Amino acid sequence: MAADNTLDISIKNIKKKYKRGKRDNVVLDNVSLDIPYGKFVVISGDSGAGKSTLLNIASGLSKPSSGSVFYGNKDITKLSDEELSSFRNNHLGIVTQESDLISYLTLSENLKISCLINKVPDDESFDGDELFSLITDELGLTALKDELPCNMSGGEIKRAAIARALVTKPKVIIMDEPTANLDRGNVRSVLKLLRKFCDLGSTVIISSHESEAIDFADINLKLDYTELGA
Ligand SMILES: Nc1ncnc2c1ncn2[C@@H]1O[C@H](COP(=O)(O)OP(=O)(O)OP(=O)(O)O)[C@@H](O)[C@H]1O
Ligand SMILES: [Mg+2]
Repeated sequence: MAADNTLDISIKNIKKKYKRGKRDNVVLDNVSLDIPYGKFVVISGDSGAGKSTLLNIASGLSKPSSGSVFYGNKDITKLSDEELSSFRNNHLGIVTQESDLISYLTLSENLKISCLINKVPDDESFDGDELFSLITDELGLTALKDELPCNMSGGEIKRAAIARALVTKPKVIIMDEPTANLDRGNVRSVLKLLRKFCDLGSTVIISSHESEAIDFADINLKLDYTELGA
């Protein structure tokens, strides 16, 4: 994939407040961050520091209380719900902390429906079947292709959600704790696969508590309660 400056990310002066009882809980206070296209970014920080809040704002799943999120010169906080949804479908591969599969579809069907919903672009690196096999092999899911989610373990469902976000060959991959609750071998497989996508030209932004993730990243950020520091 060629470098795409329209997908350089610039998060500017983000504030996010939630109501907690009668008080405002300020989770992100003036966070600014630039992520050039094609980088692998790992965001760490204590539980409750605001990692999910930041990633959900970066992917347009939630709106900041104030501030902007630019992809190139497009501020996605200004888009309508319909425009945002089309932007996400065309450019982003998302795994949230709660990501789940569609319960009445097999693993293969879950991956195929993701390709149908998102318009998968032509790519010189892989054809669809090759990519499908690469992802399911690397994530140890090949034998589970025809299984329903109810016959899969928690870790397998987590890896399947990652596979579903990757089969669409997204230019920007945003995953909230993709390595949570996985064993060491699978943590490494997931990180290696995400690094491969980054090397093929995608931007990868993940949150992770894994110290190992740092070795795979181009940019490591630690999120504190009030500011981001490198
Ligand atoms: N929808 C919400 N309404 C109210 N408060 C919320 C909401 N979502 C998150 N919070 C609060 O915002 C703070 C940051 O939450 P967030 O989920 O972003 O943290 P996190 O860094 O992802 O934590 P973890 O590592 O546990 O996933 C927490 O205090 C949380 O209770
Ligand atoms: Mg979180």
